[in-house]
Formats: sequence, structure tokens, C-alpha cells
Amino acid sequence: MSSLPQLLKQAQKAVSGSVDLKELDAVRIKYLGRKGLLTNELRGLGKLPAEQRASTGKEINEINEELALAIESRQAVLEAAGIEMSLATDRLDVTLPGRGQSRGSLHPITRTLRRMKEIFTLAGFKIQLGPELEDDYHNFTALNISENHPARAMHDTFYLDSGLLLRTHTSPVQIRAMREQGAPIRLIAPGRVYRRDSDLTHTPMFTQVEGLAIGQGISFANLKSLLYEFVSHFFEREVQLRFRPSYFPFTEPSAEVDVLSESGYWLEILGCGMVHPTVLRNVNIDPEEFTGYAFGMGVERLTMLRYGVDDLRLFFENDLRFIQQFA
Ligand code: DAH
Repeated sequence: MSSLPQLLKQAQKAVSGSVDLKELDAVRIKYLGRKGLLTNELRGLGKLPAEQRASTGKEINEINEELALAIESRQAVLEAAGIEMSLATDRLDVTLPGRGQSRGSLHPITRTLRRMKEIFTLAGFKIQLGPELEDDYHNFTALNISENHPARAMHDTFYLDSGLLLRTHTSPVQIRAMREQGAPIRLIAPGRVYRRDSDLTHTPMFTQVEGLAIGQGISFANLKSLLYEFVSHFFEREVQLRFRPSYFPFTEPSAEVDVLSESGYWLEILGCGMVHPTVLRNVNIDPEEFTGYAFGMGVERLTMLRYGVDDLRLFFENDLRFIQQFA
């Protein structure tokens, strides 16, 4: 057994020799820890002859205290040195330029949607949303597309096992809104629609904005003037429209409308017409009292025209080189 003064000397040397807090802590554990050398000495007291116990115990306690003090002051020194050191090395140069934080931007489709909502809101249309997961009744039957109607086949519908379907157009929102709110009514219904279709000009998901205005004495002329008003605001120029007679089960008469692009070709942007009396009856609106128009616009088509994009698929590939051009 080493003598106590020797032990103290040895410990003090270790304390002053420790270069960081970790090392100092190791020294503390070695001497003062639960299994430390000094702690062992205390445990050994019982084996000493009775007359030595008191004095040796006192000596151990004094050494203990002295060592604890030495550790404490060394700790203060090391801590101060640590702070100095990090001040010297971790210097923050506030004059350096920041790391480039690029700002995100809105997706072109989102931009178009916002713009459309703004224009139609100014024209007195309320914004109405509906479910993307629809039932057969709202997506087809109530819109005058009966069970065996060929238009059902044309819609290339995604059906779910539950019998529900992904809406093939935003027109079912017309039905839900008229049922709930009756007439008069004036709304647009923006949203995603789905069809089993994929090529250069078709994607399985795309975006429409539905429009509906039902009231007393609303005519096709009102529809026409609204559409001209809309496109001239949207494209910020005088735009030529071409109304082609068409067919939709839920409107009569019906038309498809093309825009003359700046590069001189016609692009279809919407279907429209006067709401079919059968549709009005389906939602308990009296077609003798009320008439109205409806339209369904292709948001991607409008975006392509506005920004001169020629491939529909670019909108959904999320290639940053494309998307960042709209920042
Ligand atoms: N729902 C039609 C489609 O997706 C577009 C459409 C045509 C909507 C005429 C209408 C409308 O509201 O009156 O092809």
C-alpha cells in the first residue's frame, strides 16, 4: 500500500498535468470515484488496528478535500482556456456573403389557377370545391350521361374496387353545388381530374376549371361575352376565339372553343354550353324559371398558350430546369 502523502502527490501531479476536461475527469474518477484509490483507502480503515483508525481516517479526509479543491481549480483553468480557444478558432465572420438560399417558386399550373380564380372572382363567381373521388351518379348520371351512354366509354374512367371512381371532369361539382344551394348560382370549380389516357397531349391527371351560372334570363350571349372577357384578361391581349358546335350530354346547345395562339395555330381550351334542362331537373331547379351556362376549361392548355410551352408532360415531370423558369 502506497503511503497517503505519496498518493496525494501523485494525484496532484495528474491533476496539474491534465490538458483537458476529459482527462481531468478521468483523474477525478481514478482517485475520488466509487472505486477510486482514495475511496479504497477509506474502505480499508476497518482493517487497521483500532488506535490508528481515527488519525488515518482524518488524514484520508484531508487529502480527499485537498484533491477535490485542486481538481476544482484546474477545472476552472481548463474551462477558461477552452472558451479562449473556441473564441480564437470558431470565429464568425459576419461580413462574409451568405450561402445562396434560392427561393422556391409557384408551379406554372398553380400560377394559372390563381390567375383564373382572381379573374372569375372579380366577375362575381364563387369558388367551389368538390371531391376527386366521385360516385357514378355525380360524375355521369346526374349530368345526363345515362348508363349506356357512349360518352361513358369516351371518358376512360379509373374505377376503384369500391365502385367509386376518380372524377373524369369537374362537372360533378356543378351537381353538388346546385343540389345544396339551388338557383341563382354563380361559381367556378377548379381541380384535378383523371383519365386513363397518356400521350403527347394527354396525361392521366390534369386540371380543369369548371364554370356555372344559373339565373333568370341567362343566355348563350352572356356566356360568349364572359369568355371573351376572361381570355382578354387572362392573356392580356385581344384574343380571337373560335366557337365550334359540339356535343355534351349536359349542355344544349354545346360548343368547343379554340384560341388563336400567338404563333398562329388554333388550340382548344374549353367546352361549354347552356345547361341541359334534364340536368336542372336532376337537381330540383325548374328549367322553366331558370336557365344558365356552364363551361369546363383546360388549365394546362391555357398555361401552355400563355407561356409558350409545347409539351404537356413538362408540367408533371418536375424537372427544375423547366419549373425554375417560372420563378
Ligand atoms: N366536362 C367536359 C369535359 O371534361 C367539359 C365541359 C363541357 C364542361 C361543357 C362543361 C360544359 O361545364 O358545359 O370534357
